[in-house]
Amino acid sequence: MADDTLTWMNELTAEMEERRKRVMRGGGEERIKKQHDAGKLTARERLEALLDKGSFVELGVFVEHLGVELMRGIDAPGEGVVTGYGTIKGRTVFVFSQDFTVLGGSLGKMHGQKIARVMDLAVKTGAPIIGLNDSAGARIQEGVDALSGYGEVFYRNALYSGVVPQISAILGPCAGGAVYSPALTDFVLMSRGTSYMFITGPEVIKSVTKEEVSFEALGGAEVHHRKSGVAHFEADGDQAVLELIRELLSYLPQSAKEKPPHKPTQDPDVRETPELNSIVHPDQRRPYPMLEVIRAIVDDKHFLEVQPEFAKNILCSFARLGGQPVGIVANNPRHLAGTINIDAADKAARFIRTCDCFNIPIVTLVDVTGFMPGVAQEHAGIIRHGAKMLYAYAEATVPKITLITRKSYGGAYLAMNSRDMGADVVLAWPTAAVAVMGAEGAASIIYRREIHNSPKPAAAKAAKIEEYKKRFDNPYWAAERGYIDDVIDPQDTRRQLIKHLRMLGHKTEARPFRKHDNIPL
Ligand code: HXC
Repeated sequence: MADDTLTWMNELTAEMEERRKRVMRGGGEERIKKQHDAGKLTARERLEALLDKGSFVELGVFVEHLGVELMRGIDAPGEGVVTGYGTIKGRTVFVFSQDFTVLGGSLGKMHGQKIARVMDLAVKTGAPIIGLNDSAGARIQEGVDALSGYGEVFYRNALYSGVVPQISAILGPCAGGAVYSPALTDFVLMSRGTSYMFITGPEVIKSVTKEEVSFEALGGAEVHHRKSGVAHFEADGDQAVLELIRELLSYLPQSAKEKPPHKPTQDPDVRETPELNSIVHPDQRRPYPMLEVIRAIVDDKHFLEVQPEFAKNILCSFARLGGQPVGIVANNPRHLAGTINIDAADKAARFIRTCDCFNIPIVTLVDVTGFMPGVAQEHAGIIRHGAKMLYAYAEATVPKITLITRKSYGGAYLAMNSRDMGADVVLAWPTAAVAVMGAEGAASIIYRREIHNSPKPAAAKAAKIEEYKKRFDNPYWAAERGYIDDVIDPQDTRRQLIKHLRMLGHKTEARPFRKHDNIPL
């Protein structure tokens, strides 16, 4: 009897292994070779590279498609997506990895449900969800069932937004629905040369608008990283993108209920930054490298810039100060004189909100003359977009520290998190100047009559500009009124920021009841 049971069990486990092998093979040798020849890893190889060695645990292994209508008789091992969980640097993450070798990674109803299930588990257990996307979009054979599969994923992307971090890697030609799920997540990373994102591909575009465009020019990593702002990061190939995800995750908490992990550093809190004493030039129009200011003050001079090639007039970076992850927002005087235009406002607002929902304190470095003037900007809605930035800072309840390095004028003074917009601590270098506008513009407006009536208008104007500069072009007018907490020596910046961050470590800030906010979009 015992032998019979054993034989029976051996047969069952052999069948189980056979079924498992079929799933592991994905779309088969030929398609896997095609995937490798294209410079891409397979869905399973990607998970191995992303997760800590041997940590992956698969879920939904034997899920199959519905097998109705046009899908009858079609073989789709694993339903074209590998799902489960594992660890990254010891922390649990939930993952899905689409298998392009199975029907082009296209998403059918059950494929969508596999993804939805790991998303649900991620939220129930409080862990990030990472999607490795390589998909031709909705599975055409499944019709509305495929659309419904996407609906299940999109719905959860929105529902779980701000609950757990959601990270999307784009590692192949992602079309249609395959781009909207990533667009609903917190971060989009693309592999250079092997990934594309578009709603409709070159062929459809040609038939509708007669435009001829290549995959790369339509939706390659460069386009989305520099022009459209859809992607936050790009890297060379799958391995580099997966490595970047591991680094990105190190700045994020497991969920909105937790704080991001501290990382001990040998870099002393009190390290002086003498290089910052000579970075701002006495000529206010001379740009200087704000990235070097960031580099000088952060732990180990290391930071991770988000959207580095998009809207370069504003810089958004993750870094650490005294081991504490922070988000740094900074004007970049080297690009468009650091003015805030539509793209910069969108970029910063999104970053500020991302930091806020994941309990990452925000450090703002200010050198800004204002919002970017111009008919094109006005007509494209700079008011609507600029409002997002004001809104994002005001609604953020994480610790917020502002440091004014040089100019802080007009509406941009407020958009860069002034005291009144909710900054907990405002510091300034002695080079700072806070005013409604620059001395030249201000003097010509308020002293127009005196200048006009003067026998020597040019000299009168120069004198008035000087007079205005003396009064307003310094940090003290604002500091006297309590808008600035302290004027600090630039070489003391790192120590000061860390000290204030520690003080704010247990900050809580309540907001009045509402169903949800209504940010201008
Ligand atoms: C089912 C698909 C498919 C799809 C491709 N395949 N797209 N199967 N549904 N949407 C299959 C192919 O038949 C092929 O099967 C395999 O996947 C690989 O496709 P290839 O074309 O050989 O690969 P490649 O040359 O690399 O081109 C990849 C591609 C192209 C650019 C993604 O396949 C393509 O343009 N596909 C259609 C994209 C699309 O329009 N999707 C629908 C979007 S609408 P075999 O058996 O030969 O390996 C959508 C609606 C949701 O998503 C919207 C929600 C907002």
